[in-house]
Amino acid sequence: MNEFTEAIIKWYEENKRELPWRESSDPYLIWISEIILQQTRVVQGYDYFLRFVERFPDVRTLADAEEDEVMKYWQGLGYYSRARNLHAAAKSMDGVFPKTYPEVLALKGVGEYTAAAVCSFAYGMPYAVVDGNVYRVLSRYFGIDTPIDSTEGKKLFAVLADEMLDRKQPALYNQGIMDFGAIQCTPQSPDCLFCPLADGCSALAKGLVGKLPVKQHK
Ligand code: ADE
Repeated sequence: MNEFTEAIIKWYEENKRELPWRESSDPYLIWISEIILQQTRVVQGYDYFLRFVERFPDVRTLADAEEDEVMKYWQGLGYYSRARNLHAAAKSMDGVFPKTYPEVLALKGVGEYTAAAVCSFAYGMPYAVVDGNVYRVLSRYFGIDTPIDSTEGKKLFAVLADEMLDRKQPALYNQGIMDFGAIQCTPQSPDCLFCPLADGCSALAKGLVGKLPVKQHK
């Protein structure tokens, strides 16, 4: 395994957050958690997740519910189209959560990030997640200043993320790089002094940590 991937996994095993959706490999529960966490922070999403899955524990229960009640459980979270999409997607499933990446990606409200998260966490499939955390960690470690919101940047980071993925433990690696970005390699005050990846970090060596990642449209 390359040095980067190995260090991310080691860091994760020592620092991982215990979160309710991580105790499970049920794709339905993971899907719900990822939709909540798309625009909501973990601390805020936590209780919503628990209440939501207690009332709607599986695809069938959610599909059979009235939309008004689903919306009630989303009240306060914002971005209400997420809840409407969840409900519509559950209705499209026929009681069984889809088992392949293309089918998961085709669900209403699911993009590449969420499909990769669900398929790697639930099924152990080798799809690399690419979100804001991943852009930040990769751009800094590898010293890449290609804008993350350019066509070229998106392609480049998707390829690099896929190359760094641990194909034998995609869930561990994906969760690891996301938590590493959320906790250690943060946007404003990354903890470079106590960072286990500091030795190989290109941005740190060049004094560019605060300049990466680059966005062309701010
Ligand atoms: N943000 C998005 N998905 C997450 C997850 N699975 N764990 C923690 N934070 C997240």
